[in-house]
Amino acid sequence: MEQKIRRIGILTSGGDAPGMNAAVRAAVRTCIQNKVIPVGIRRGYQGLIHADVLEMNARSVNGIVDQGGTILYTARSEDFMSEAGQHRAAQTCRYLGLDAVICIGGDGTFKGALALSKQGVKVMGIPATIDNDIGCSHYTIGFDTAANTAVEAIDRLADTMQSHERVSVVEVMGRHAGHLAVYVGVAVGATSIIIPEFPYSFEHDVIEKIREGRMHDKHHHLIIVAEGVGKCDEICSRIADETGLEARVSIIGYIQRGGAPSARDRVMATRMGHFAVEQLLAGQTNQVVCYRDSHILLTPIDEALEMKKSLDAYMYRVAGEVAL
Ligand code: F6P
Repeated sequence: MEQKIRRIGILTSGGDAPGMNAAVRAAVRTCIQNKVIPVGIRRGYQGLIHADVLEMNARSVNGIVDQGGTILYTARSEDFMSEAGQHRAAQTCRYLGLDAVICIGGDGTFKGALALSKQGVKVMGIPATIDNDIGCSHYTIGFDTAANTAVEAIDRLADTMQSHERVSVVEVMGRHAGHLAVYVGVAVGATSIIIPEFPYSFEHDVIEKIREGRMHDKHHHLIIVAEGVGKCDEICSRIADETGLEARVSIIGYIQRGGAPSARDRVMATRMGHFAVEQLLAGQTNQVVCYRDSHILLTPIDEALEMKKSLDAYMYRVAGEVAL
């Protein structure tokens, strides 16, 4: 007979993302509505190994829907990488009486959740990463806020760079994926967007575009570089050498991961947190909550980890074609 769910653990792991708190809040409150005890696990899988937990109630998540970061803290746990660590984490779940664990984060978090499920713990993943690089879901919590933060910063930068007629080389976060860089690049009207997924010709995609722009009376150029490509200083020096224009590097960095979540992230996180608990109570386990074609649904966690999200080639082409 299927074991009844009485206590659900909730953790956030990996890089944080604005909206994680809203997901925690929704999961906690949905537990309470269904007479299930929500247990907050601090510092991700590391906290799970060490039973660093707190029993939560409806009031523990008061006033966090609009807060960035995560009240549960987050970590990238070395100890949990080993099978011994995973075994200990599963033992803690049994000792604490956790019937399931909701794991909020990105790809690394889901790999951890899969490992935990192999130790006999029921898990449910919720995608939250500013990189939006989870294959099974068209959207990940935090992406919208991070994109808006980057756009606001670059708009400010553009004002001063325009006055000085300079070229800005701006690094946007995303170690392995260029989704954020492309989206932000389109929103700020970038001259070029350099991402890890597609090869680029420095001469054709950067230098010629800047020269063309100059001929059409353009006084400022934005070159957006995804963190995964890096080398902003080198790109900047080459631009200055080959065009004779002044160029400056700006790395937006961790600012993109902070701040109050946008309405979209709050709503998406609330829907996903609610759905995760509801589905666990309906008997679903070892799944990732996904957003596809306006619907929230589930994908088995092992399949989710096999799915790769390809970059929106159409959007990338549009960005290039409107950058004159
Ligand atoms: O969470 C994703 C991400 O923000 C990437 O964009 C970035 O490359 C990475 O995390 C940074 O991680 P850390 O916090 O470990 O420096």
